[in-house]
Formats: sequence, structure tokens, C-alpha cells
Amino acid sequence: MLAGKNIIVGITGSIAAYKAALLVRLFVKNNAQVRVVMTDSAKQFVGELTFSNLSQAPVFSGLWDGAWTEHVHLGAWADLLIVAPASANTLAKMAHGICDNALLAVILSAKCPVMVAPAMDLDMYQHPSTLRNLAQLQADGVQVLQAGTGFLASGLHGEGRMAEPEDIFSAALSALSPKPLAGKRVLISAGPTREPIDPVRFISNGSTGTMGFALAQQATLLGAKVTVVAGPMGAQPERGLEVHKVNTAEEMFEAMTSRSGSHDIVIMTAAVGDYQPLEVSPIKIKKGDENLVLTLGRTRDILKHLGDHKPNGQLLVGFALETNDEEAHALGKMERKQLDFIVLNSLRDSGAGFGSTTNKVTLYSRKGEKHSFALKDKNAVAADIWSVLCNAIEK
Ligand code: CTP
Repeated sequence: MLAGKNIIVGITGSIAAYKAALLVRLFVKNNAQVRVVMTDSAKQFVGELTFSNLSQAPVFSGLWDGAWTEHVHLGAWADLLIVAPASANTLAKMAHGICDNALLAVILSAKCPVMVAPAMDLDMYQHPSTLRNLAQLQADGVQVLQAGTGFLASGLHGEGRMAEPEDIFSAALSALSPKPLAGKRVLISAGPTREPIDPVRFISNGSTGTMGFALAQQATLLGAKVTVVAGPMGAQPERGLEVHKVNTAEEMFEAMTSRSGSHDIVIMTAAVGDYQPLEVSPIKIKKGDENLVLTLGRTRDILKHLGDHKPNGQLLVGFALETNDEEAHALGKMERKQLDFIVLNSLRDSGAGFGSTTNKVTLYSRKGEKHSFALKDKNAVAADIWSVLCNAIEK
């Protein structure tokens, strides 16, 4: 997700320094180039060797080590600079432009966005001077990642724990993403629906909601305000998403149609049940010797309704999971449901469809475009889909 991005991780003197190792690992795993800059105090807590190994690059910590202009080069090289953990001392120096170590020199030379993840004991975190310094840094354009509340290494309990590495990673990802969807409202349906037979049984399908949530997460990164209407499923929604949970196709119909009017882009990834038992037994059905016959009636087609009532300027996108005559079926659905785009995945492609972490899609537009993509991780597929949709919005 971060290929081609250059990130500096600045580490200062705090017990949370050990968590910076996880952060550096996350960046490297996501293909970012990482350079670590440590203060002398940081080295009291963690070893330089850990970080040179993780980042696959020498750690910079002595202003006078090597070329004395190293701080300038690093400052110009970085796309993002994160100080994690940021001690009270470093925050105070940053707020006043003090430059008495390598990290502070890099920070002053940096042309990129700067983020800090404070970590300190609760009294230090609440001290008026710390609060003043954090406010000053925010006024200078530094993004402050709020410290969390919990167990502190001193044995005290309170605010001052460094934000978790995964949260710092998400904030970094967001800061590094362009925002072509800024100001746009996106509505996405995800997962399966469940049609009850009796209080303990239902008809459903194997959709996990992974594709829908990957699209929602990407849209958030691209700057959109995203709402997800989710059927019952295991996939955990990402933090920061507004999620409305539903069970049946009828509940999903209500949730989607009542919201679609106020959204710029609507995407139906949900595997909506096409049939529901006409009668739902209020008590558990007991087994007998005869065959059990269920009579099923059609559910409403949500996407068709959305297409029939589409507001001017809205982009409406559907999905089609097919096993045969894929292109013809997908194009037929796009026409019938009056969609702007349809995303086709075929069960004939191994690694595509329900339950898989990967997918292989082709997008068709009403205007006749066709975009085929290789088998990829669903997050990468979501990025591909959004690149096509963002292009369409810009035109
Ligand atoms: N869809 C919907 N409401 C339904 C059924 C499907 O909104 N009751 C949406 C799906 O979310 C998907 C698109 O319609 O975006 C195509 O769904 P799919 O199940 O592939 O096709 P169907 O229209 O149900 O047709 P068929 O089952 O015959 O393939």
C-alpha cells in the first residue's frame, strides 16, 4: 500500500520506543522505504541494531556522524515524518524550534507532513506546558496523534500511552493518500443477507463482506465520508466507518433506499438473497418423516430500485458474481438496473469470489469502457476499482 513512499520514524526516550519496532515493521511490510532517526535517550530503551535491521538502512542519530548535511538530505527525502514515541522533552523542543540533536535537525529540515505520537506519564501529559506545546505544534501544522488511556509503565493508570502502532500506521496511510473523494459521500452495502425459516434457521450465502469493507476503507483513505450497510458477517468493520447492521434483504432494502438519496456514490457489493420463505415459523420446526417443502417468494431487487430512482449526478455501481456467460450476464444486469458501472467476478477464476482474500475483477461502464485487472488481494482490488471510479468522477 505504501510502495514508493519514503517515511522517517523518529524515536525518542520513552518506554513506548519498543513499539516503534512494530511500526517500522508495518511500514516495511507495506513496501515503504523507512529511515529511522533516534535520540540518545531512545537508545537507553531500544537498540540501534533492531531498527537498522528492520528498516534495512543505517539508523541516523549523531548530527556529526558521516556527512554533516545528512539531516538536510533526509528532510528532503521524506514523504512523511513520524515521531513515535514523542517524549515531553522532544515535543517541547519541537514547539520552540530547538535543534540540539539529529532528530530535531531532520524535523526542521523536513518539507513533508509531520506527525507526533506523544508518550509519557499522565501528569506530564496533562502538564500545562505539554498542552501548550502540543497546541503550538498543531498550530504549526503538525498532526498530533492523541495518546491513549490505560496502564502506564510507571504503574499508574491514565492518559499518556502512545497510540497503537496499527493506529499510527492508519493515520500515516491516510496522510499519504491523495484525496480525490474529499467532500463525497459514499454508501456501500456489504456481506450476505439472512432470510429466516424459523427462530433458529435461515437461508443465506457464503459472502464474508471483505470486498465491501475493502472498498469502504479505500474510500475513506481517498477522503470520502463512508456509510456501510452490512449484512450479518464475521468481517470486523474498520474503525472510523459508519456501519448500519441489517439481517434480511428487506431490511437492507429499507436501509439502502432510505439513505441513497443523500449519497454521491452508491455501491452494492452485498450478496442479497433473491428469495425468502413465504412463511416464517414462530417456533422451531420439528423434524418429521416426510420431506419438508419450503415455499420461497422473491425479495425486492435493491439495486434495480436504486437505478429506477437514481438522483441526477449520482454514480451507481453494482457487482455481478457469475459462473457462465459472464460478460453477457454482467452487461445485462448493468442495463436492466441502469447502473453506471458493473464489477464482474467469475467463479471460474480460482481465487475470486466469496470467502477468498483475493479477487479478480473486470469493470464495465455504461459508456462502453472495459477495465480488466489481475488476481490481487481484495485491498488492491478495491484500489483498482476506485481508480476507475475516481477517473469517471473527474471527467
Ligand atoms: N442485488 C440487489 N438486490 C437483490 C439482488 C441483487 O441489490 N435482491 C444486487 C447485488 O448487490 C449486485 C447486483 O444486484 O450488486 C447483482 O446481483 P446478482 O446476485 O449477481 O444478480 P441478480 O440480479 O440477483 O441476478 P441473478 O441472481 O439471476 O444472477
